[in-house]
Amino acid sequence: MLDSVERTISLIAPAKINLALHVTGRRDDGYHLLDSLVVFAHVGDKVSVKRAPVDSFEVSGPFGRTLPDDETNLVLKARNALRARFPEKAALPVAIHLEKRLPIASGIGGGSSDAAATLRALTALWGIETDELAAIGLTLGADVPMCLYGQPLIARGIGEEIEGIDDFPHLPMVLVNSGVATSTPQVFSALAKRDNQSLPNLPKLSSVHDVCNYLRQTDNHLFSAAEMLTPAIGDVMTALRNTDPRLVRMSGSGGTCFAIYGSDQEAEAAAAALKRAQPGWFVVATHNGMERS
Ligand code: C5P
Repeated sequence: MLDSVERTISLIAPAKINLALHVTGRRDDGYHLLDSLVVFAHVGDKVSVKRAPVDSFEVSGPFGRTLPDDETNLVLKARNALRARFPEKAALPVAIHLEKRLPIASGIGGGSSDAAATLRALTALWGIETDELAAIGLTLGADVPMCLYGQPLIARGIGEEIEGIDDFPHLPMVLVNSGVATSTPQVFSALAKRDNQSLPNLPKLSSVHDVCNYLRQTDNHLFSAAEMLTPAIGDVMTALRNTDPRLVRMSGSGGTCFAIYGSDQEAEAAAAALKRAQPGWFVVATHNGMERS
């Protein structure tokens, strides 16, 4: 959304959902090789940028208070990386606002998606045309290139080799997080053993039924390590299983878990029941649609 009068550019940084995540090996530098089927939700954080007399950064929203607003924040790292690469065009000061609506360190790519949205918003504001955004994004985090892509995809390598998927079916989902942060490096280093098993070839997926049939042949290989470190993830999985979904799984390195339903109505009813039972949890009914709020 571009408001040309105010010159404020606002972009949604959607939640990333790893429908399947297989660890297939390990690089010499310690990073793990992955195969992951990824979609993006219609919910997310919101990044807004506008020209200003001096640089500033403000964080708000339900999960804003626990997030650093200093140079360690991926939003500012993204701004700085773009400036380092395009010092002339990116010299103008900018006010950045992040509305943090997704839980922090929760396996749905919040920080990476914020960085990707910041790169997109600032290139638009500063009039930078480049095909290097994915490479710049990769210096910020392994998941940033896929968040820049923002459409259903298979990711390989450490997440940076991206193959888009056309015509992915509408998936009604509920995302749930109990509020306990998980540390991605800790989860990776707690991996007891690697299955080293690639994802099966993706057939044509035309319905929720097709997607769930495929996903049943797959897994999230980070689940056991994440649940061992954060036992509350098991409670979230149990709560989701009790809502009669088609499939339940953890996303990324956790602790956010998702369930897939046969219809948006079923997903909304499940979310309402979970919110009543667990008022302190992050619970949202969503889907992989394009109109993003
Ligand atoms: O790249 P990012 O900062 O998101 O990764 C955080 C940490 O997670 C890395 O330092 C690494 O320990 C681990 N990681 C990994 N393999 C990946 C992605 C992340 O081992 N593919």
